[in-house]
Amino acid sequence: MDCTIRPLTKEDEPFLWEMLYQALYIPEEQPALPREVIHLPELARYVQNWGLEGDCGFLASDTATSQPVGAVWLRLLMGENKGYGYIDDNTPELSIAILPKYRSQGIGTQLLAHLFSSKESPSVSLSVSVGNPAVRLYERFGFAVISKSGGSMTMKRD
Ligand SMILES: CC(C)(COP(=O)(O)OP(=O)(O)OC[C@H]1O[C@@H](n2cnc3c(N)ncnc32)[C@H](O)[C@@H]1OP(=O)(O)O)[C@@H](O)C(=O)NCCC(=O)NCCS
Repeated sequence: MDCTIRPLTKEDEPFLWEMLYQALYIPEEQPALPREVIHLPELARYVQNWGLEGDCGFLASDTATSQPVGAVWLRLLMGENKGYGYIDDNTPELSIAILPKYRSQGIGTQLLAHLFSSKESPSVSLSVSVGNPAVRLYERFGFAVISKSGGSMTMKRD
């Protein structure tokens, strides 16, 4: 599939809520989470009021149909609003997801390549479940494990 990548805008917030749900890692043997889970404060903070100062990200769409298929986004979460992958007040957290039927076709790779070529050497962090195959993708982009806690790891790319 040919995909087109463009910067995210405030108008993309509804799609980002869907992406937030899709980004939640569920091991294959476990049932899907209820959709409402994304409105818990600890998850909603990644997307709520998208378009705040410092928010940055890209959307991938199917070039043939213009339908959005995935997104990568960065947000600085600090103070009372810290995210799962918090490192410090200068390091935004990365989130990424692709709709299920479009995974493993290189779109996530294209989004990350686009993100990291568009900013001047940003340091970014993320939180990922141990066992999520996405770890391999992150390592290919230079992310390294900073810490592990319970079933998740914080990774950072300098
Ligand atoms: C992770 C994700 C964004 C990668 O995008 P993608 O377009 O599928 O990835 P690409 O085709 O460019 O690259 C393939 C790599 O993506 C990862 N990947 C592929 N399918 C995946 C899946 N279902 N779940 C998690 N990671 C996956 C693997 O690291 C894979 O590398 P490998 O071939 O060495 O195993 C996408 O698969 C996805 O949305 N997964 C579910 C949500 C998720 O896990 N998000 C990350 C939360 S921290």
